Amino acid sequence: MYKNLKEVLTEAERINYTVGAFNAHNLEMVPDMIRAAKDAGSPIIIQTSVSTAQYVGMKNFVAVCKTMADDLLVDVVLHLDHAKSFDDIKEAIDAGYSSVMFDGSALPLRENIEKALRVVEYAHARDVSVECEIGTIGGTEEGVTIAEGVYTDPKQALTFLDAVDVDALAVGVGTHHGQFQSKTKLNFPLIEELHSLITKPLVIHGGTGVDESDYTQLTENGIRKFNVGTELLVGWTRAAKKQFEDTELNNSLRNNIMPCNQVVYDVVYHKTGLFLNKKSVVATM
Ligand code: 13P
Repeated sequence: MYKNLKEVLTEAERINYTVGAFNAHNLEMVPDMIRAAKDAGSPIIIQTSVSTAQYVGMKNFVAVCKTMADDLLVDVVLHLDHAKSFDDIKEAIDAGYSSVMFDGSALPLRENIEKALRVVEYAHARDVSVECEIGTIGGTEEGVTIAEGVYTDPKQALTFLDAVDVDALAVGVGTHHGQFQSKTKLNFPLIEELHSLITKPLVIHGGTGVDESDYTQLTENGIRKFNVGTELLVGWTRAAKKQFEDTELNNSLRNNIMPCNQVVYDVVYHKTGLFLNKKSVVATM
């Protein structure tokens, strides 16, 4: 079914697993992302940046996600990633996105709260979920670089959550957007502290740079949404470079694109299997 973020994260919390949120960089890769989640036996969050949403067309993303969720009987959330403007968020909600992120992390706390309240009011009235962020994630995303991330201050997070009824909270715990050539060192003492204080589902950004051996510990500490973008982008692009270098000019385009989508399928299938934290899922059955 086509679901909102709150619905899938509530179930993930109940059974203790994490849901993968994968950035779609074009429309081509979306069907294979959803098929991979279906085959792995998990819900999936498809997320798009504002720019990619506008490039493809928000309603086109909505149509594909809804149709495939119904046809394959798999739970799909369509989420707008890192939106800073109310107008972009409203456009996505009106187009049928089931979840949005309002990213006010660079604003002073009071302003972040005020703007988030407006988003939550508009979104919740339409059964759309909202993710916000306290602390900042460093690194590069969509060509924009924030050199240094800022760890989430637990006190600020609590003040924010007291004021704003969000459905998920993104936290700065040592990850960086766009880190694909090395792995990061997570601040687990901070993650544990945040988990002990915060009951809302927590979100990891910059998932490409996280070592897969850390996934279980993240799930055990309340991480319910885990974002992966760059690994898909780099994998698709690498495959595309090879395909298009080797191809005959009049080869069917499909023959060159399918191997790129297969790379995306493989990453989503593999990571989703790890996020499911099978030991704990089996234990609750
Ligand atoms: P990566 O591109 O580093 O995997 O991060 C994705 C992300 O956090 C999207 O918001």
